[in-house]
Amino acid sequence: MVTDPPYKITSRGNAGNSGGMLQKKINMQGQVFKHNNIDCSEYASEFYRILKDGSHCYVMTNHINLIHMLNTFTDLRTEEEKDNGVKPYGFHFIKSLIWDKGNKIMGQFYMSQFEYILFFRKGRGIRINHCGTSDILSIPNIKLKGIDGKNLHDTEKPVELMKILINNSSQQNGIVLDPFMGIGSTGIACKELDRQFIGIEIDQQYYNIAQERIKG
Ligand SMILES: C[S@@+](CC[C@H](N)C(=O)[O-])C[C@H]1O[C@@H](n2cnc3c(N)ncnc32)[C@H](O)[C@@H]1O
Repeated sequence: MVTDPPYKITSRGNAGNSGGMLQKKINMQGQVFKHNNIDCSEYASEFYRILKDGSHCYVMTNHINLIHMLNTFTDLRTEEEKDNGVKPYGFHFIKSLIWDKGNKIMGQFYMSQFEYILFFRKGRGIRINHCGTSDILSIPNIKLKGIDGKNLHDTEKPVELMKILINNSSQQNGIVLDPFMGIGSTGIACKELDRQFIGIEIDQQYYNIAQERIKG
């Protein structure tokens, strides 16, 4: 599983490291894209349910959602289970990777240049395929533009970044899922690496772009 979920944002600066122009858009429109009001507690246990034992799970996030996301993914108990004294269960947190985006965004508290990629596993521990990979991944943050000159998707991730994660945590012909695929960078990375891909996207426009890019 490799995914970059939407998160709840507010007009008081919850764009986190997305910062800059994105925060201006949030202030004007109340959100970055149409569907971003989902909390990780709504999908974390579903991720866990469908992943095979010994598989890796990468989830991108920002500093504001980091703690909630870590707590949720590593303790999937329902309130009822907590009340009944069930022991914590869930994903094992391996470590956090850093996506160094290259570009810097102005801020009052240091300029923002990176995003977190939380690296989890379900069940038994399986090593990555290329142990020499650094946990800081420096890939330029370059976004595709439409004919109007605007970003096709404001939080598009580089295919090269997704390829590093997929190449390290799956085998040829293995199945990779991105349940929040946006315009499909994970899918293209899978195609280039001979992996099977399942992508889900709620916004029809993004879905269509993803399909075209992957077919192309
Ligand atoms: C942060 S973006 C992912 C962008 C993607 N990494 C890319 O490179 O294009 C999150 C995506 O999740 C989609 N989304 C939001 N809620 C969803 C839901 N319930 N089911 C599926 N997709 C959803 C949004 O429309 C958005 O495109």
